[in-house]
Order: sequence, then C-alpha cells, then structure tokens
Amino acid sequence: MQNRITELFNIKYPLIQAGMIWASGWKLASAVSNNGGLGIIGAGSMYPEILRVHIQKCKKATDKPFAVNVPMLYPDIDKIIEIIIEEGVQIVFTSAGNPKTWTKHLQSHGIKVVHVVSSVKFALKSQEAGVDAVVAEGFEAGGHNGREETTTFTLIPMVKEQLDIPLIAAGGIATGRGMLAAMVLGADAVQIGSRFVASSEASSHQNFKNKVVEAKEGDTQLTLKELAPVRMLKNKFFNQIQNLYQTAPTKEELISLLGRARAKKGMFEGDMEDGELEIGQISGLIHEIKPAADIIQEIISEFEIAKQEVANF
Ligand SMILES: Cc1cc2nc3c(=O)[nH]c(=O)nc-3n(C[C@H](O)[C@H](O)[C@H](O)COP(=O)(O)O)c2cc1C
Repeated sequence: MQNRITELFNIKYPLIQAGMIWASGWKLASAVSNNGGLGIIGAGSMYPEILRVHIQKCKKATDKPFAVNVPMLYPDIDKIIEIIIEEGVQIVFTSAGNPKTWTKHLQSHGIKVVHVVSSVKFALKSQEAGVDAVVAEGFEAGGHNGREETTTFTLIPMVKEQLDIPLIAAGGIATGRGMLAAMVLGADAVQIGSRFVASSEASSHQNFKNKVVEAKEGDTQLTLKELAPVRMLKNKFFNQIQNLYQTAPTKEELISLLGRARAKKGMFEGDMEDGELEIGQISGLIHEIKPAADIIQEIISEFEIAKQEVANF
C-alpha cells in the first residue's frame, strides 16, 4: 500500500490517527505508530512541559515515525514549537490558524508540515504556504469544524481537483469501506479521529468512551458557530446552548455559558452532563472500545475486502 503519503511519512498504511485534545497522548500515538499508521500527539490540551513529557514517552514507546498536532488557537504556541524542535519531532500537523505562520520555520528544522483545512480556499492557501500535505476535513468530523458545512464527500473531490500536493481526507471515516471511499474520491490517505477516541489507549475518560459507543445516528450536532464551530454530543450542556440561542444571545453570553475548561470537564474528567463532548457523526457506527492495533487491523482488512468487491463490479 505504498503511495505519496506512506513515502512522505515512512509509514506502512496511509492511515493517520488524528491529533485530539484530551484523547491522543503518547499511549495512543505510539500504539498507532507501532501498528503501521501515523500516531499523532494532540498538543492542544497540554501545557508545554506536559507536551515535552508526552513526546519523550512516545519516543521511548516506538521507533516508528509519529507527529504532533498544534492547534494554533491555543496559547503558548511559541513555547510548543520550541519544544517540538528541541525534542526532534519530525512531523507536525498544524490546525486552526494561518499555515504561513510556522510552516517555513518548522521546515527549516527538517520537520514535515501538514495543515488541516475545511475548504478548497484554505487548501490552496496551505499549498501556497509550502506545506508538505493538506488534511481536508468535512463537516461530519468531531471537534472544531469549518463554517461552510462542506461534507467530506463533496470536499475531497473539490480539493483534489485543484491541489497538487498530497491530500489526506478526514471527517466521517472509521472503517475500511470509508477509507476506500475517501481514497476513490481522491485522497492519498485518511485521518481518523472519533474511532480512536473509543480505543483502549485513548486518554479520554471511560464515561466518554462509553458514550461514544452508545451514540446513534443523529446524536451529534455542530454548534457555537459564532465562537468556534464545534461538533459535540447532544447532552445537558448542548441543550443549554440551544436554549440560549432561543433568546438571540450576544457573543459574550455564549462565551459566558461556555465558561472555562468545558472540554476537559467532559472528555477528560467524565462529566457527561455539563461537559463538552466533542465527537463526529460517525460515532453512530462505533460499537466497541478496542485496542488501537485491532482497530487498525480491522480497517485495513475491510479496506482490502472492499477493494476486491469493487474490482468485481
Ligand atoms: C475529541 C476530539 C478532539 C479533537 N481535537 C482536535 C485538535 O486538538 N486539533 C485538531 O486539529 N483537530 C482535532 N479534532 C479533529 C480531528 O483531528 C479529526 O480531524 C476529526 O476527528 C476527523 O473526523 P472524525 O472524528 O469523523 O474521524 C478533534 C476531534 C475529536 C473527536
């Protein structure tokens, strides 16, 4: 299964485990990398020195390539970039910001840079900024999301039509069939988030993992568009947001309801009522918590079976 992405990252399968706040620490990233994918440590929920510890543990746990995801909307970015360079990380996925800000600096230290976008316009901006590859993430995805509501099924071929550099599809992919579909649409690889939240190695709270497994079609929704659009499970906190919307709230009122550390409260501390539970639409297809190795094996064997079925059409 060799292509531009497996060669770029020196990995076995074109399968990337998404960087995710409160879910993807060194345990998950190293397990994925040890099993042929690319594991990513999510720096967005880590103080800089905590990130350093995760990188060091990941280096001890795997001799395979792994990456760090840096959402640029969080504080301490300068320090985080410094640590990434000091610790010799070789691949960085940036998101939620301008791809021009850090790409050249990171590349000047021999680091490969991938930027996450949710539109054709920003995919092209990323290419212009000189990134090595782009992740195009559709509206189905868990976590922070684009305002345009472009789904993966439409976004990938539209980005593919204009982009020259390698393209990674994200949003709504959790199975081998989903992976094959994304690659048929033009992706060189897939980035998978929600499926890996329900893995044994994810650092998310057990309550959250159980909720993901229980989730059915229609249980998530994108909200808080005025702040930073985010897809989450419909729980008490989500209903409070919807009730507030009935009163045509100001941005300040929304910020005040969101408060501080909502995501940590839900996904890390396990408060299923008042916490923010970021997950994708594909949670409706996730039925079991499993080790990352099993998740990857299942996806790859289903991918091969589906490819064979398609060849027989
Ligand atoms: C719990 C959770 C946390 C996330 N945190 C981040 C993050 O810190 N940075 C980022 O770029 N994307 C983040 N995302 C988005 C993922 O990186 C990925 O693109 C997305 O999950 C793919 O869609 P899927 O959930 O349908 O697989 C998060 C997603 C989830 C589910």
